[in-house]
Amino acid sequence: MGFIQRLVIIVIGSLLCLIGTSIGLKHNYGDALKKSILFFEGQRSGKLPQTQRMNWRKDSALQDGSQIDHTLFSASQQVDLVGGYYDAGDNVKFNFPMAFSTTVLAWSVIEFGKSMGPDLKNTLDAIGWATDYFLKVTSVPGFVFVQVGEPYKDHNCWERPEDMDQPRISYAVSKDHPGSEVSAEIAAALAAASIVFRKHHPDYSTRLLQRAREVFDFADKYRGSYSDSLGSTVCPFYCDFGGYQDELVWAAAWLLKATKLHYYRDYVNNNIVNVKNIGEFGWDTKDAGINVLLTKVRHVNNSSYSPFLANADRFVCAVLPESPSRSVQYSKGGLLFRPGGSNMQHVTAASFLLLVHSSHLRKLKRKVDCGSNIFASPKRLRQLARSQVDYILGHNPLNLSYMVGYGPKFPLRIHHRASSLPSLVNHPGQIHCKEGSTYFESQNPNSNLLVGAVVGGPDINDSYEDSRADFAHSEPTTYINAPLVGALAFFNRHRH
Ligand SMILES: *[C@@H]1O[C@H](CO)[C@@H](O)[C@H](O)[C@H]1NC(C)=O
Ligand SMILES: *[C@@H]1O[C@H](CO)[C@@H](O)[C@H](O)[C@H]1NC(C)=O
Ligand SMILES: *[C@@H]1O[C@H](CO)[C@@H](O)[C@H](O)[C@H]1NC(C)=O
Ligand SMILES: *[C@@H]1O[C@H](CO)[C@@H](O)[C@H](O)[C@H]1NC(C)=O
Repeated sequence: MGFIQRLVIIVIGSLLCLIGTSIGLKHNYGDALKKSILFFEGQRSGKLPQTQRMNWRKDSALQDGSQIDHTLFSASQQVDLVGGYYDAGDNVKFNFPMAFSTTVLAWSVIEFGKSMGPDLKNTLDAIGWATDYFLKVTSVPGFVFVQVGEPYKDHNCWERPEDMDQPRISYAVSKDHPGSEVSAEIAAALAAASIVFRKHHPDYSTRLLQRAREVFDFADKYRGSYSDSLGSTVCPFYCDFGGYQDELVWAAAWLLKATKLHYYRDYVNNNIVNVKNIGEFGWDTKDAGINVLLTKVRHVNNSSYSPFLANADRFVCAVLPESPSRSVQYSKGGLLFRPGGSNMQHVTAASFLLLVHSSHLRKLKRKVDCGSNIFASPKRLRQLARSQVDYILGHNPLNLSYMVGYGPKFPLRIHHRASSLPSLVNHPGQIHCKEGSTYFESQNPNSNLLVGAVVGGPDINDSYEDSRADFAHSEPTTYINAPLVGALAFFNRHRH
């Protein structure tokens, strides 16, 4: 590399270093944490419990499981599929992203549960709400239910979940028409949750772990993608674009953490070569998460080397603003960007991983070497994660919090059916599929505050329209919030 090139890299690096270092605003991370978990109550499907705090939501989808698509599901029994979460602003239950959000919530508790204070209980409830449902979707051996609701018909309506009159068809994968990614992700969620519940609910924890092992075996033995088995039922919505290899390793990684068995240790070691997108972590791509989770695991044939630790370091260098191998962009206001919609999912996922890895590095007393004389200390990782969290909470060019109900200014017209339509409390009569359009098109703020919901976020120029129709920016999702819960728990205890 020539002198000029090196100089350019150093100058750009120093400018980018400023991102995330000039923090003046003080945020109430405890308040944001409480709200980030409360959001999950607004996404609940099924019979709501006495303890429900988000009271404008009511019972919904109480017949789920009664209409089954029998193309792939050949068993004859009735299945109860009531419960779980709506993934975003619609009323379909997509089990693939739901399971990912659950795995990450469980990971948040495992890493930072001690910093959650009274919200630990609420987070455990949020995880249990999903795992109760996952026990149902995996209750018939040889099948895994992967979705309830027809996405095209559902998306065509602007309807409250409490009013749904569209078909609620349930879809399963089988041995002959497998779905390794969705099954493995459910196995990961069950295994991670088994760790979380081990101490206070040992029987439940044992049940979750036993089921996780069975579902992982099913996912691994009958290999294939649910995108191929179910086609337009799941694609393009939560199509598995990245393949199922990463979910198999991810599930084995969680089972290793839950059981310490050599079988899973060998599995992750032998299959880590199939995990290549070192810089990515999200509902479709688990790669960076696998490596950060497994940093303590050594290579089977070489105890002085961890391929996972080396890859986790490479993840850091892929997101660090001043790194020569950076593969993400940053807006002028300092927000991380990846191509595609719903950018905030990448921001929260990367922030969480940075915090987890920073704790590992601190224990190992090491820095990450990104080359070109760029070293990232554990402190730098925390600083970067904090700059992202602070941006979300309002430290940005618009002075706008991207979390509904947090701070003085936040999105008012989020793309979310239940939030935008009046609640049953104020409007008990049914609002049919197309009758909701008036509310969708209205310029008025949404009727109900979905407190804690974090939307897809601003564009690369740090601007935000606050328009219901602009779903790529205005829709909240469970997988935007789940990693943020962990990050907020961390900052709730460590102010910097
Ligand atoms: C470890 O060593 C064994 C025996 O040489 C070999 O078969 C195996 O592929 C090695 N495993 C990995 C992950 O390199
Ligand atoms: C084990 O890994 C270390 C660190 O990467 C390396 O220096 C060493 O050569 C490896 N040993 C063997 C036997 O491959
Ligand atoms: C944001 O807040 C800062 C500091 O209070 C102020 O200087 C700036 O004008 C505000 N920007 C907007 C767009 O409101
Ligand atoms: C951001 O601003 C640039 C320069 O003004 C413009 O070319 C680009 O289209 C803008 N991008 C978006 C997403 O608005």
